[in-house]
Amino acid sequence: MNQETWSAVDNYIIETLLPPDESLKRAIEASDEAGLPPIQVSAPQGKLMWILARIHGAKRILEIGTLGGYSTIWMARALPPGGRLVTMEIDPRHADVAKSNIARAGLADRVEVLVGDAHELLPELEKRNDGPFDISFIDADKASIPFYFESALRMSRPGSLILVDNVVRDGAVIDADSDDASVKGVRKLNEMIAADPRVTATVLQTVGLKGYDGVAIALVNSNS
Ligand code: SAH
Ligand code: DHB
Ligand code: MG
Repeated sequence: MNQETWSAVDNYIIETLLPPDESLKRAIEASDEAGLPPIQVSAPQGKLMWILARIHGAKRILEIGTLGGYSTIWMARALPPGGRLVTMEIDPRHADVAKSNIARAGLADRVEVLVGDAHELLPELEKRNDGPFDISFIDADKASIPFYFESALRMSRPGSLILVDNVVRDGAVIDADSDDASVKGVRKLNEMIAADPRVTATVLQTVGLKGYDGVAIALVNSNS
């Protein structure tokens, strides 16, 4: 098995199960044209997040790491009337592209793009204290995953889901001696989760258009 096969199968899944979608296609095109790195979730991954948000009946969603708003659009579409998504992005260029992609997708009324460093934005959001998030999607710099996870957990309720992207990293996650800050961040997350009775979690390895990686899925039991 190799990347060629994984990509071919993802493309087959997309052709077979994911109808053409003008807003998502244009979001990718606009992101490419603006020179954003093509590191958004794949379409099948985006659809999984949509399905999770739907079965969860998520009314409030938090995202850390917006990029061009591709995953934002998938998740915001799952919101019921009156639902809200807050997303954070440190790079104002990325945020501008995202805002225009989100508006073009007809979701500007539901999505708030906060521009700045999530290390500062998250404590501000916690102070705002306008209700727990049903789903949090952590997908920014990987070294800071433990910090983001703790904050997301404080803004959760029993039954909330916290998803963390890119936690397998081509298998590098099993290297306990790694000095890669991303691997360290992910390993620290797993240690925190394992020791924390507030959450029950698993990690799914994934292959596809985005290579070999994985997603952590944590169910919040309590946040105190
Ligand atoms: N969730 C997106 C992909 C996000 S890529 C999708 O799947 O469509 C990661 C993003 O996190 C980048 O745009 C990067 O600029 C942003 N980021 C990195 N460090 C950050 C920080 N400290 N605070 C907020 N955003 C950050
Ligand atoms: C990178 C970041 C991501 O969130 C991702 O899904 C893939 C790659 C990166 O920073 O390279
Ligand atoms: Mg990611």
